[in-house]
Amino acid sequence: MGSTENREAAALLRVLNGERVDPPPVWIMRQAGRYLPEYRKLRTRAKSFLDFCYSPALATEAVLQPLRRFPLDAAILFSDILVVPDALGRKVWFVEGEGPRLEPLIPETDWSLGEPEKALQRLAPVYEAVERIRAALPSETPLIGFCGGPWTVATYMLQGKGGEKDEARRAAYLQHRKVDALLDHLVEASARHLQAQVKAGADCLQIFESWAEGLSPPLFERLILSPTKRLVARVRELGVTVPIIGFPRGSGPQLGRYAQETGVTALGVDTGTPAAFARAQAPAGMPLQGNLDPQLVVAGGFFLSQGVRAVRTAFKDSPHIFNLGHGITPDATPENVAELVRLVKEKL
Ligand code: CP3
Repeated sequence: MGSTENREAAALLRVLNGERVDPPPVWIMRQAGRYLPEYRKLRTRAKSFLDFCYSPALATEAVLQPLRRFPLDAAILFSDILVVPDALGRKVWFVEGEGPRLEPLIPETDWSLGEPEKALQRLAPVYEAVERIRAALPSETPLIGFCGGPWTVATYMLQGKGGEKDEARRAAYLQHRKVDALLDHLVEASARHLQAQVKAGADCLQIFESWAEGLSPPLFERLILSPTKRLVARVRELGVTVPIIGFPRGSGPQLGRYAQETGVTALGVDTGTPAAFARAQAPAGMPLQGNLDPQLVVAGGFFLSQGVRAVRTAFKDSPHIFNLGHGITPDATPENVAELVRLVKEKL
């Protein structure tokens, strides 16, 4: 069997193709990262987090670290959603213990950005990392590429930081033309970024729309549905055929419209959303991913085993990819992750 054929048999890709696999494939959002002591050690080898992301050797090593410890069913590229604004010419830096910072667009008059195709040349080290990771992974392990959802990335660009999204939402009203143009720009840049990752060897993709919460129906339509629909269509127009997982965290009762209208292949379900609700809202047979509470990987013990079983049972009527309902936190323990993966592989 050729290496690509090996991968077609991979549980994750079978589920993304609409098949129910039992036990379900499992990977963990933010599976490479600070809860691993070996990551924290590796991290000291780069001056800044972005330097780390732009080092193909360090990024490759970070991807492999969790796979050496746990029998996970997929690898995810080590990078960040904020490399796209960085490539477009907005300054991005990370403050220890606080998170990302950018120079905010809101107070500026000129919102012009680098032309997407040219700007993304700055991301060549990311695509080199994808090539190296693909070559280093076992041929049967799928590699997930990703980008941030246009609105999620825009909120960081508009406000210059995470936290409350009030300023970004206000700008969506008061500076609506500029915000729409920003989203258009991010759609094009993100589509090209995803295409380049697939060209370099990514087997499927995830769109992290981490800030889909708190939007009125008209804003949800304008800031989430419409840009995501254009992003997926543009990726397809660029010739990309691999499955796309959409993860609109916090979309609540608007989850169904996201699943039905954006064109994503599979739906990431957050911790606060009942599996039965997601199943009822999504198109029949759409693969669902999620949604264990990340705090259970901190708590461990009986709570963890009960939680894993509850999630597996709740998603038993869907093609299911086991995951958390948001990223793993730095205070989770590697021992609890090992236990989680073992529990997912156990007979129910
Ligand atoms: O999942 C993985 O293992 C792949 C790597 C990955 C990172 N960030 C590495 C990272 C992925 C997929 C992301 C996505 C990302 N980045 C999202 C969407 C997912 C989510 O959690 O909602 C968002 C919103 C960001 C922006 C971002 N980057 C934030 C808010 C932070 C700060 C987090 C914090 O607690 O400091 C980052 C930094 C970041 N991205 C780290 C890692 C491992 C930690 C920085 C470090 O190690 O120094």
